[in-house]
Amino acid sequence: MLTSLNKILLIFMEELRLKFADLFAGIGGFRLAFEKADYECVFSCEIDQACQEVYLNNFGDKPKSDIRKIDLKTLPYFDVLTAGFPCQPFSICGRRKGFHDTRGTLFFHICEIIEHINPPVVVLENVKHILHHDQGRTLEVILYSLEDMGYVVNYETVNSRDFGLPQNRERVIFIATKTRKFNFKNLRKSYIFPTLSEFLCTSGKFEYLNTEEYTMIDNPKQQPSGLIFVGYRNKSIWKTGIRPNTEHLSRVHHQPNRIYSIAGVHPTIPSQETSGRFFIYIPEENVVRKLTIRECYRIMGFPDDFKIHSNLAECYKQIGNSVCIPVIYELANQIKKQIFSYQDREGEIVNNGMKS
Ligand SMILES: C[S@@+](CC[C@H](N)C(=O)[O-])C[C@H]1O[C@@H](n2cnc3c(N)ncnc32)[C@H](O)[C@@H]1O
Repeated sequence: MLTSLNKILLIFMEELRLKFADLFAGIGGFRLAFEKADYECVFSCEIDQACQEVYLNNFGDKPKSDIRKIDLKTLPYFDVLTAGFPCQPFSICGRRKGFHDTRGTLFFHICEIIEHINPPVVVLENVKHILHHDQGRTLEVILYSLEDMGYVVNYETVNSRDFGLPQNRERVIFIATKTRKFNFKNLRKSYIFPTLSEFLCTSGKFEYLNTEEYTMIDNPKQQPSGLIFVGYRNKSIWKTGIRPNTEHLSRVHHQPNRIYSIAGVHPTIPSQETSGRFFIYIPEENVVRKLTIRECYRIMGFPDDFKIHSNLAECYKQIGNSVCIPVIYELANQIKKQIFSYQDREGEIVNNGMKS
């Protein structure tokens, strides 16, 4: 039985836990990682009903729906705001009204919440393309809007394969802080590519290709990205004028037709995919089979007990839209260390990032 002192201690420790808001929550990739790093989720929003269902099944908590309809007055305080938001063009007229210029975009609603709560840390996640989106204007607006609200912003492209996952998946992370700049160099990375083979299911219902459905290539080589193409599916491939053994490199030969070696990493699981056309070669059995949906979740860092949606097409869409758990977990830990820790890396005494 808990003594009164223990109870008080527990309440105190609970109070000390850093709180975060999970915006554009999807199926809760940020939530999994931040909770693992001992943060407490105090608010979430997600408009898609199928995602909400998965979120509820896993976290016992149904996210609020449309970010555009959130009543700011009902928001609880949080220390960290996280958002992997859809990338939209901002038709702005330059640096005139700060984030108010982004009115009508989802980013504007993130900014409204930031301005209202003024959290010490904001974490935004997006596709790499956002850096060049709308000829760089989108990036400029994001940076300027955050700076306008008093933040210092740092951003970096991170790749999941540097965080123990066998997937070449690049995403941009923006970290806005009120005081010291977040240092991405301190992220703990592993530069040895993990291999797909370590993440495969050993039993289950596998979908194999017949041998006449594919062609293997000679002397496959690992790309600098970690991928190893070993073959391709024999689907409407344009072979005229293409040198033998280079068919897989042909532009008409799109990624869903490629077969990858399990000794390398997998290409990015895309968000538009609804049928899981990801094929791998298993040398021990000399077979080509589809990556299972569970394997897709594994290479995004989701645990096997994560409850996925009952509709397979939804599952593919949802996982392709999500974040890689070890990447976000490392960020959550580093944010704690770099921004909220009283003892910084050099041993200086700091208070919420402010030198005292
Ligand atoms: C890139 S995904 C983020 C996925 C999430 N990070 C995860 O781990 O699953 C963007 C999400 O924003 C949601 N969304 C789009 N418009 C929204 C809105 N107006 N309000 C709330 N959520 C929205 C989409 O349904 C989608 O799930």
